[in-house]
Amino acid sequence: MLRWGSLLFHFGLLAVLAGHIAGLLVPVSVYRYLGVSDEAYHMAAVSGGLPAGVATLAGALILLYRRMTVPRIRSTSSAGDRVALVMLAIVLITGLTATTLNAVNHTDFDYRTTINPWLRGLIVFRPDPDLMRTVPIAFKIHILTTFVLYLVFPFTRLVHALSLPLGYLKRSYVVYRRRG
Ligand code: HEM
Repeated sequence: MLRWGSLLFHFGLLAVLAGHIAGLLVPVSVYRYLGVSDEAYHMAAVSGGLPAGVATLAGALILLYRRMTVPRIRSTSSAGDRVALVMLAIVLITGLTATTLNAVNHTDFDYRTTINPWLRGLIVFRPDPDLMRTVPIAFKIHILTTFVLYLVFPFTRLVHALSLPLGYLKRSYVVYRRRG
């Protein structure tokens, strides 16, 4: 369970985050300059993003199931370990729901001209709330759930991501636990 859950989760998440950087931090003008049509962009975003999101969610659910059902893992898990996985699953489900609804409803909504500049403004502490006015509720819920994830992030094992743990590719995990 650890092998499948961890591989699906981590490699899926890397793909999801790469897609978020391409869609949310790269300004739409860059795509227009490169001659990438809106249709081609959205086709690539959905056909790459959805499978990556599903793989990440499957991994997170396997890891959560393992944590809840394997007696040894269950008894050594902290509340933070469980909260981290539950929050990740919620964020992944809200992201997948927003993407699916947007694709199925064929709306004209383009997050590259709304959420994208709003997020870039937020990063430099100058967000323009007007940009979020026309954003469908599903995306707003997704973004709000990610804020809760960032809130719990420093107090859970998720913080290991900040150490860029590339060593894990070559050796087994070392888990640090509270004494006793
Ligand atoms: C403020 C931060 C975030 C914003 C503004 C944001 C926004 C978005 C947007 C606009 C989409 C639609 C993409 C598309 O339809 O092509 C999306 C999808 C998605 N998001 Fe986020 N997101 C954020 C953070 C996260 C995080 C931290 C995760 C995972 C831990 C995540 C997981 C997903 C997933 C799984 C999807 C669905 C498919 C995909 O694009 O991979 N998001 N998000």
